[in-house]
Amino acid sequence: MSRKVIIAGNWKMNKTASQGKALVEELKAKVAGISNADIVVCPPFTTLCAVVEAAKGSNVKVGSQNIHWAESGAFTGEISGAMLKEAGVEYVIIGHSERRQYFGETDETVNKRLKATLAAGLKPIVCIGETLEEREGNKTETVLDTQIKGGFAGIAASDMKNMIIAYEPVWAIGTGKTATPAMAQETHAYIRKVVASLYDIETAEAVRIQYGGSMKADNSAELTAQKDIDGGLIGGASLKADDFTNLIKNAIA
Ligand code: 13P
Repeated sequence: MSRKVIIAGNWKMNKTASQGKALVEELKAKVAGISNADIVVCPPFTTLCAVVEAAKGSNVKVGSQNIHWAESGAFTGEISGAMLKEAGVEYVIIGHSERRQYFGETDETVNKRLKATLAAGLKPIVCIGETLEEREGNKTETVLDTQIKGGFAGIAASDMKNMIIAYEPVWAIGTGKTATPAMAQETHAYIRKVVASLYDIETAEAVRIQYGGSMKADNSAELTAQKDIDGGLIGGASLKADDFTNLIKNAIA
């Protein structure tokens, strides 16, 4: 089963609309012609429209960093699927560890946001991952198990096949500490095994699993060379066109 590499830049709370536009103008010129990887950038809400406009006609796709499960209503600070869709967004990051850690995101809210994403015809990138304490306490598999079962509850196999899961060990995010390729591979294989046990082998083989956490141009090749690592969700190294382009090129070399 060959899965297309997907590299997504999570800009987090960085880049105003004009800065985002400038970054994408530069990026799209550098990645023009790359067809063997899906390339996505996920700017903050107020930057989305400018980036969608700048990316038009290129191979750079746009994602958001969150979505609310309701169609509309009194949910101050949230954003709906219809709003994202009309803005030209294609992908949605759900359940990033920073949202779980600072904004009370749970597997239950991840599940609701995931269902809203699918209902809106958007493509979900669902984040899972353990903390350092959990890894050191040998709880990685239990934590991932719970996150997968809760996050994907009630999702049909047909939707699961197109799913993008981002495995981001929390201790590797923004710390410069990357999971070794072997360590990441072992965990990715475990995630695929859990998906196979909940669905079937065919579904598990179709799901794309990105690695996230201090992925850079100098380690993207060895990470994506692993059998079960299908790309990356990138923070810091997605904020400069050169860094992101080199990371992408090495990942698919
Ligand atoms: P860094 O690449 O900065 O470690 O961030 C990873 C991440 O959280 C992407 O969502």
